[in-house]
Amino acid sequence: MKPIQVGLLGIGTVGSGTFNVLTRNQEEIRRRAGRGIEITMVADLNVERAREIVGDRARVVADAREIIANPEIDIVIELIGGYGIARALVLEAISAGKHVVTANKALLAVHGTEIFAAASAKGVMVAFEAAVAGGIPIIKALREGLTANQVQWVAGIINGTTNFILSEMRDKGLDFDVVLKEAQRLGYAEADPTFDIEGVDAAHKATLMSALAFGIPVQFDKAHVEGITKLAAADIRYAEQLGYRIKLLGIAKRRDDVGGIELRVHPTLVPAKRLIANVEGAMNAVMVQGDAVGTTLYYGKGAGSEPTASAVIADLVDITRLHTADPDHRVPHLAFQADELRDTPVLPISEIRTAFYLRLRVADQKGVLSAITAILAASDISIDAVLQRESNEGEHQTDVIILTHETQEGAMRDALAQMQALPTVLAPIVSLRKEELA
Ligand code: NDP
Ligand code: HSE
Repeated sequence: MKPIQVGLLGIGTVGSGTFNVLTRNQEEIRRRAGRGIEITMVADLNVERAREIVGDRARVVADAREIIANPEIDIVIELIGGYGIARALVLEAISAGKHVVTANKALLAVHGTEIFAAASAKGVMVAFEAAVAGGIPIIKALREGLTANQVQWVAGIINGTTNFILSEMRDKGLDFDVVLKEAQRLGYAEADPTFDIEGVDAAHKATLMSALAFGIPVQFDKAHVEGITKLAAADIRYAEQLGYRIKLLGIAKRRDDVGGIELRVHPTLVPAKRLIANVEGAMNAVMVQGDAVGTTLYYGKGAGSEPTASAVIADLVDITRLHTADPDHRVPHLAFQADELRDTPVLPISEIRTAFYLRLRVADQKGVLSAITAILAASDISIDAVLQRESNEGEHQTDVIILTHETQEGAMRDALAQMQALPTVLAPIVSLRKEELA
């Protein structure tokens, strides 16, 4: 059978990895797919660099629309990134009847509803394994491997840059700003790392996982997003003393008690004994809890040229295998059939339930702790553990660290406002959420 023909839009980090791995493992991939898969056209703004990568094995063009217009091309891979030209090209490729593979989590988290609807109407597939956690096959796990389950929650370290920064802060006791500069110098963090450090990239990925886990549309605008920029080395140290690590987690949780979904990204205390707490450096890991399977964990490289290419090519093989299948009987884009999506609401952050870590800078005098605990008790917030740093000689203030049991975020915010107003509380209170992930 004639090889399936693929057009590649953008041959940068992931695009070049995809071209190289597909070339290197061509024969093995053909045996798996049942048919050869060839990238026959490549579009990139930098035509010279693209030619250096592909040699004479593919035709290089500057205009991506030449690929979309070519009737010989069966699958278009979009590896340009961003919401601008990438959105237009993906919609045009769909409209031209091409299947699409993309690693673009930002595009799908924001414009996914429009893109998946267009693909369903046209009977083509949009595959995006590489968009979440790079080389880890988490989309496949959620969409197919765990399909028997009612997923209870998904929680993941899904941004390598921030996990690298948090690991370095813990190892070396350094503050965020210092480690960020080091990460940029080493090339881990981009020149503009805003999406990573502010939690936006992780929220794009968590949004996609929430849709796959719960059969809801992609709703990035409903996600609660907090990054790691305000995290102090002191909190990482105190958390450690209490048996916890701080990780930036993307969390999607079903809340049958209120008929909603929690969708949030924030720094989170995780028990140090959990495997996920020991995921260090730029590695990613995702935990999924299903009612039948229990807790599962997926670990690997969440970024990089060839790890991400591994996921892109898995999608190419999937599409090749299903190319001739009737569109209505293919695996659905978002795991649930398109007409079976639910309008279960994503809950406002005030309605989520979680435990908390609090650090209060207080005057070192009698009655301080009882005033704080009285506010928590009146708000029906139960305390799990308290740690008070001994003040140094001549120092008249100290840190009180409190771990609470699970409570409603709204109740905690009210209690925090009351505690902050105490004259003996001397600095803004640090509050971080805690998850047992059991
Ligand atoms: P790069 O910036 O390395 O590559 C993008 C390429 O697209 C560049 O070569 C760029 O050319 C080219 N390009 C830009 N505009 C056009 C256009 N209009 N037509 C054709 N080519 C164009 O990005 P990455 O490979 O890192 O990322 C690609 C996608 O993969 C993004 O969506 C990203 O979020 C996602 N991703 C990346 C991961 C990674 O590890 N890098 C991991 C997981 C997902 P030029 O350089 O000249 O601008
Ligand atoms: N900037 C992302 C990260 C790349 O640091 O994980 C992979 O999506």
